[in-house]
Amino acid sequence: MNDTFLKACRGEKTDYTPIWIMRQAGRYLPQYLKVRARGKGTFLDLCKDPARCAEVSLQPVDIFNMDAAILFSDILIPMEAMGLNLEFHEGRGPVFPDPIQNKKDVDALIIPDPEATMPFVLETIKLLRAELNVPLIGFSGAPFTLATYLIEGGSSKVFLETKKMMFQAPELYHNLLEKITKCTSLYLQAQAEAGAQALQIFDSWAGILAPCDYARFALPYVQSIIKDLQQKTSVPIIYFANNGATLIPHTVTSGADVLGLDWRINIKDAIAKVGEHAVQGNLDPLALFLPEKDLKNRIKQLLDNAHGAKGHIFNLGHGIVPQTPPEQVRITVDYVHEYSAG
Ligand code: CP3
Repeated sequence: MNDTFLKACRGEKTDYTPIWIMRQAGRYLPQYLKVRARGKGTFLDLCKDPARCAEVSLQPVDIFNMDAAILFSDILIPMEAMGLNLEFHEGRGPVFPDPIQNKKDVDALIIPDPEATMPFVLETIKLLRAELNVPLIGFSGAPFTLATYLIEGGSSKVFLETKKMMFQAPELYHNLLEKITKCTSLYLQAQAEAGAQALQIFDSWAGILAPCDYARFALPYVQSIIKDLQQKTSVPIIYFANNGATLIPHTVTSGADVLGLDWRINIKDAIAKVGEHAVQGNLDPLALFLPEKDLKNRIKQLLDNAHGAKGHIFNLGHGIVPQTPPEQVRITVDYVHEYSAG
């Protein structure tokens, strides 16, 4: 197996810089769209079909030579298992038609047994492990980010309902986060037991919080999940707090092995702040629209700037956008491999 990615996670020396891309299995790939259309179901139906999930997870590894695969699923799958109705609307993203508003709603949430309620995720992991010769990344959302979807009923711009609950009913909010945390710990542990070789926790909305609120309402729950996992498994853990450059003094205490970085910070400045942690990132996803020469220059600069890192995994600073030409991904992966191998 090519374990370059795992070595970089652990801060060991590698022959070249490994690369994978957030949302690498997705709509920018015509091969994904083809599998998605097959079977005629919704996106959620796809997430519950292990054979098709495994197929789309493998695509970017086979097509571009990525150094890791990511499980095909969605961070909101375990929220459905907690007892909520979840829908994905074309062009609008995820929708929870019955958002969490009060104590009755929080009390009604169950802590699901992953084997019983999400067997399709664990089955996908097993199928993938039998096929892959690069490591497989499992994942979850972070409790704060998951809670925003449950409270807002979907995506949001200002997070009014979330912050109202945080500020006006902090006890209720903490109870909600505690339940999501328990669910997430069990879920990630089950993924590791099924064969996931690294785990990434996505905190996509961390950057909407003031540092003091992040320290109170987001970080402790991430720390608790990581502490719990580290008692049960030894797989490396990546924590990605999107838009989190100003939160680094906090995120370094998460307990994660690797800190994911978005593109709003120079990777050199981030490395100076993260101590012994490996880093993952952080090319602007829209830099993939640069002409080839400029794209390569950016990549070169990024790799040079990351030179002092304890370990560096090349990635975008957030998910790849669906309009990205696949050819630009090929150029990126090849150039990261070529330049970093010296
Ligand atoms: O390669 C991969 O990373 C695929 C697996 C994956 C998906 N979602 C598939 C998906 C992963 C790791 C995710 C994580 C995820 N899901 C996050 C965290 C990462 C981030 O972007 O911040 C979040 C916030 C979600 C919730 C979610 N799922 C949203 C907001 C949306 C709609 C917006 C969008 O990008 O379309 C989804 C849908 C979704 N999840 C798609 C895919 C491939 C598109 C669905 C389709 O095929 O129509």
